[in-house]
Amino acid sequence: MINMILCGGSGTRLWPLSRTMLPKQFVRLFNNRSLFQDTVLRNQSVCSHTFVVSNNEQFFLAVDQLGQISSASDQFLLEPVGRNTAPAIALACMAIVADKNADDLVLVTTSDHLVKDQSAYEAAVLKAKALAEQNNLVTFGIKPTYPEVGFGYIEANGNDVSSFKEKPDAVTAQSYIDQGNYYWNSGMFCFKAGVFLEELKQYAPEMYQACLDAMPKDGCNNEIRIDLDAMKAIPEDSIDYAVMEKSQKVKVVPCDMGWSDLGSFDALYDEVKQPGLDNAVLARLEDSPEPICIDSKDNLIVARERQIALVDVEDLLVVDTSDAILISKKGSSQKVKNVVAQIKKQS
Ligand code: GDD
Ligand code: MG
Repeated sequence: MINMILCGGSGTRLWPLSRTMLPKQFVRLFNNRSLFQDTVLRNQSVCSHTFVVSNNEQFFLAVDQLGQISSASDQFLLEPVGRNTAPAIALACMAIVADKNADDLVLVTTSDHLVKDQSAYEAAVLKAKALAEQNNLVTFGIKPTYPEVGFGYIEANGNDVSSFKEKPDAVTAQSYIDQGNYYWNSGMFCFKAGVFLEELKQYAPEMYQACLDAMPKDGCNNEIRIDLDAMKAIPEDSIDYAVMEKSQKVKVVPCDMGWSDLGSFDALYDEVKQPGLDNAVLARLEDSPEPICIDSKDNLIVARERQIALVDVEDLLVVDTSDAILISKKGSSQKVKNVVAQIKKQS
C-alpha cells in the first residue's frame, strides 16, 4: 500500500508558529519532530511506499525533513499552485495508475495531524485496507466531542455510510452530535487508485479531465512537476465536497486512536496539558530557559528561546517565536487566522 501524504496546506490558525515559509506540518512540535515526520514514521509499518504531494515552496523542506529521519520518499508530485485536496489526490492517483496499476491501494493521510495510539491506528488501517480491497472509498471516523464546523461528518451504521456532510453549520453540527450516529471525518482515506479516479470522473468530470490534461506527457518519474497553466486550469475543490459527499461507495472505519487535527492553539493546549501541572508548556529547546510561572495556571506557553515569565494570569495562550509573539485568551484561538489576514493586508 502507498502512503500518499498531502502537505500543501498553510495552517494559518497556528500563527506565529506556522508561517508561509514554515507551515504547521513542518514545525517541530513534539519530541523535536514535525507532524510531517511523525506522519511518515507512523505509516512505515502499514505502507511500503511514501508519495508526497506538495508544492514547489515546500519541496526542499520535505526532502530535508525526510533526510533527518533517514527516510527517502519514493515519489514526489509538486503543484505550482494549490487547487485543494481533490486535484492533489487525483494527480497522484493518475501517476500511480500510469506507473503501476489501477488496483494499487492508497492510504491518503494529511501531514498535520496527531495520532497518539499507534496500535489502534494500525488496527484501523488494516480494517480499512480490507474494505478498500472491495472497491470502497474508506474513511476513518472519530467520535465527535463538540460541534466543530471545520470538519466533515459521516452518518454511519457499522461500516456503512448513509451520508457525508462536509463542514456543516453550527446548528446542523449540533444536531448530528445529538443524533449520536455521526463521526468526524479524520481527513484520511483508503482506496484503490483506480476506484477513486472512477468516482472522480463520475462526480467531477471537469476536474478529472483537467487533471488528466495536466499530467506530464513524457511519463512519470519520481519527481513529477505539474505545469503552472495546466494546474491553474483545474477547478479547485476538496475531496470531501467533490467526491465523498456524492459517492455511493463510501465506507467508514470507526476508530479511537488519540486523533487530533491540532487546528488551533486551544486544541494544542488540550494535547500538551498534563494532569498535576499548572500550565501546559511546549517545545522548549533543551538549552532554553524554563518558563517562570508565579501564581498562574491553565495557560499554554510555547517557548522557543527566550525566557518567558507569567505573573497572576490564567487561561492565556502565549506563543513566543523569534520575530513575533501571540497572546490570546483561551477559547479565542480560532480568531488567530484573522491576524494572518490582517498581516497579509498590511504587506
Ligand atoms: N498537496 C496539497 N495541495 N495538499 C493540500 C492542499 C493542496 O492544494 N490543500 C490542503 N492540503 C493538505 C493539508 O496540508 C492537510 O494536510 C490536508 O491536505 C487536509 O487539508 P485541510 O485544508 O487541512 O482540510 P480541512 O482541515 O479543511 O478538512 C479536512 O480535514 C478535516 C479533519 O481535520 C476534511 O477532510 C474534513 O472532512 C476533515 O474533517
Ligand atoms: Mg486541516
